[in-house]
Amino acid sequence: MGKDVIIACDFDSAEKTLEFLDKFKGKKPFVKIGMELYYAAGPSIVKAIKDRGHKIFLDLKLHDIPNTVKKAMAVLSHLGVDMCNVHAAGTKRMMSAAIEGLTRPDGTRPLLIAVTQLTSTDEETMHNDLLISEPLDKVVMHYAKNAEEAGLDGVVCSPLEAGKVHSVCGNKFITVTPGIRFAGGDVGDQKRVTTPAMAKELGSDYIVVGRPITAAEDPVAAYEQCIKEFIG
Ligand code: C5P
Repeated sequence: MGKDVIIACDFDSAEKTLEFLDKFKGKKPFVKIGMELYYAAGPSIVKAIKDRGHKIFLDLKLHDIPNTVKKAMAVLSHLGVDMCNVHAAGTKRMMSAAIEGLTRPDGTRPLLIAVTQLTSTDEETMHNDLLISEPLDKVVMHYAKNAEEAGLDGVVCSPLEAGKVHSVCGNKFITVTPGIRFAGGDVGDQKRVTTPAMAKELGSDYIVVGRPITAAEDPVAAYEQCIKEFIG
């Protein structure tokens, strides 16, 4: 499993994103395109970043009835991204439909992973707002197992859960972990956070880092710090 740092390019225009990526000169970091950028700039920004030679995680977190997700995934399958995702809360049936839609006529498809519980949700919020009364850990493992049974390649979870997900679903099952902050950094709206070094220790396969890089005074230095801590 290739460990990597994925930069969450949460910008509201193509211009800002490409200007940000220009700072990296010859480097081609793995890029995450989320809702903000995709809703602002659409498929053309995916193509532009891909044409520059970056790998892309298209983080649109689909969650709808199985037929709608299947058809939406069939459209996304032609964008040539490396990874995309759904919410595991959409059920095993929805996740199986997502795989069907994502698989191209030649049998290939991008990696498909499922969000377990958002890293901005802590156990208390999950109990009070979502009325899910089980422990957070148990819910994450159950959703991960559902994703595995539906044939997905991995999950999005907190680094704090990565090791346990691997022990439940195997080491080949990918853990993609947001909620990364440098020691002493601003947590913002995230709750279940760790440093890049801790994420490595806990067994994450990919870390997703947004504001600690995009809002840094020197984003390239912040990215390199992540690489140093996470990959070594
Ligand atoms: O800026 P920050 O490092 O908090 O960004 C984290 C990124 O990861 C955001 O783009 C967010 O949408 C995404 N994400 C997350 N938690 C999940 C799934 C995705 O924070 N469970």
